[in-house]
Amino acid sequence: MHYTELGFVNSKVMFEVAVKDKFAVPAFNFNNMEQIQAIVMGCVEAQSPVILQVSKGARAYANPVLLSWMGRGAVEMMKSYAKEKGLGEIPMVLHLDHGDTFETCKECIESGFSSVMIDGSHHSFDDNINLSKKVVEYAHQFDVTVEGELGVLAGVEDDVVAEDHVYTQPAEVQEFVSRTGVDSLAIAIGTSHGAFKFKPGQKPQIRMDILKEIELKIPGFPIVLHGSSSVPQDAVAMINKYGGKLEDSIGIPEGQLFEAAHSAVCKINIDSDSRLVLTAHLRRVLAENPAEFDPRKYLGPARDAMTAMYKEKCEKVLNSAGKAPAIMAALKK
Ligand code: G3H
Ligand code: 13P
Ligand code: ZN
Repeated sequence: MHYTELGFVNSKVMFEVAVKDKFAVPAFNFNNMEQIQAIVMGCVEAQSPVILQVSKGARAYANPVLLSWMGRGAVEMMKSYAKEKGLGEIPMVLHLDHGDTFETCKECIESGFSSVMIDGSHHSFDDNINLSKKVVEYAHQFDVTVEGELGVLAGVEDDVVAEDHVYTQPAEVQEFVSRTGVDSLAIAIGTSHGAFKFKPGQKPQIRMDILKEIELKIPGFPIVLHGSSSVPQDAVAMINKYGGKLEDSIGIPEGQLFEAAHSAVCKINIDSDSRLVLTAHLRRVLAENPAEFDPRKYLGPARDAMTAMYKEKCEKVLNSAGKAPAIMAALKK
């Protein structure tokens, strides 16, 4: 099944408009129906483009076939929700996050994904290039866009734990991009995966200096930031108030992401914030209503809170709110 039959678009035009209009497209991970619904509703309300992301872990959890059907349903859900609200439709990408092998990328492309990431960042420079190039050559036959990665983020990513950052070297990006043919590049400049990025008191700082150097080497090329959750402190406090035991931690300050979104950064990945908000509201409802056993009663408030969070990210952090109409118009040309 080709992604166009399902109503998805690839990321090409989205990123062209994002570079020109200085915003970043939100890339939100999902594992279940409530997350998809919240992403779709939040982004339609914000009139923001969106990239729906599926990790290897999400495919294993939800079953690849079921998950890809859920992704397909998202476009129909978007259309009916937009109509109900009297709002315009928004462009949507279905993206494989951290694809680790050629075979996984191929499988996703065959099942209707419009974009894939091949993450060869744990390989040597040459092996990363060879693997990424192979995926690009296959994906481009179907007009599927490909994200590559150079540099290693600290934190937990699927089963891999990296203790330290290996910042992307600006001297390598031009060669990587031209030899692989990737459509966008994920870089490591101080963000990290997961909810435990920095201890309170530490001063998180995205290396904007490295980003600027990279921009100079590949002007106008779409850059991707992974590990960009901000770890909302009210959600962490709510989790701990209602029986959770999360270590105190802080994430990437939203002001720094706002600044990055106004640069060559075209895609910002957020997953952990959604997990935290969902867990916080689930714990609150169950703690306050210990006799409750109807999933709609405890998942509903969590879904509402996630919807509000996604909308706010578009409006206040990524500058992507209100950008859907321009992308829809550019796609029609
Ligand atoms: O990069 C990691 C994403 O947050 C996906 O996480 O592999 O636990 O689904 P996951
Ligand atoms: P967070 O863990 O910061 O949400 O990052 C998610 C991510 O990069 C998915 O690829
Ligand atoms: Zn990531």
